[in-house]
Amino acid sequence: MATLSVRRCVAAEVAVIAAGEPEEKNYASSTFARQSAGECVYLVAWDGAEPVGSGELEWAPIPELKNLQVAPDRRSHGVGTAIVVAAEAEAAPFGRIWIGVSADNPGARRLYERLGYRPTGRTETFSYTYVAADGSKHSITETAQYLEKRLPG
Ligand SMILES: CC(C)(COP(=O)(O)OP(=O)(O)OC[C@H]1O[C@@H](n2cnc3c(N)ncnc32)[C@H](O)[C@@H]1OP(=O)(O)O)[C@@H](O)C(=O)NCCC(=O)NCCS
Repeated sequence: MATLSVRRCVAAEVAVIAAGEPEEKNYASSTFARQSAGECVYLVAWDGAEPVGSGELEWAPIPELKNLQVAPDRRSHGVGTAIVVAAEAEAAPFGRIWIGVSADNPGARRLYERLGYRPTGRTETFSYTYVAADGSKHSITETAQYLEKRLPG
C-alpha cells in the first residue's frame, strides 16, 4: 500500500467515508462532529482516495485510542499500525496514550504489545450497541483491559 496516509478527517471527506457505511451507522458524521467539538481527533487511513481504516483519539481524562478498525480486506498490511503511530504523534505532548482492548481480542493485543503498550491493571466492563458492516444491530457487553505506552514528550 504505497499510497497509505493517515490524517485528521476534514469536512469534505466525511461524505466519502459515509458512502461506505451501512445506512444507519452514521459513524463518520457523528465522529467528525465530536472532533469539531474538540472531544476527539478522528484519524482516517487512506489508500489514495479510498478510506481503509480509522480510529478516534479521545482526550479526556488520558489520551485514548478508541474504535480502531481496518477494512477486513485491508488487514495485515500495516494500516492498523499506521493509525496507532498517528495517534501517538497526536498524544505525544501528553506523554502517554492508552488503548482499551477486549479480553477476547488477542490479535489486537499482540499488535499493541509489539508496539510497546503495557498493561495498566485497569479494566472496565461496558455495554454498547453498534451497527455492523451488513447493517445488522448488535448489543454487547465486554470487558476492556487498558494498555499504556509512554511517549517522549
Ligand atoms: C486490530 C486491527 C485494527 C489491526 O489492523 P491491521 O491493519 O491488520 O494491523 P497491522 O497490519 O498493522 O498489523 C496486524 C498484523 O499484520 C502484520 N503486518 C503489519 N504490517 C504488515 C505488512 N506490511 N505486510 C504484512 N503484514 C504486516 C503485523 O505484524 C501484525 O501481525 P500479527 O497478526 O502477528 O500481530 C484489525 O485487525 C481490525 O480492524 N480488527 C477488527 C476491529 C478490532 O478488533 N479493533 C481493535 C479494537 S481494540
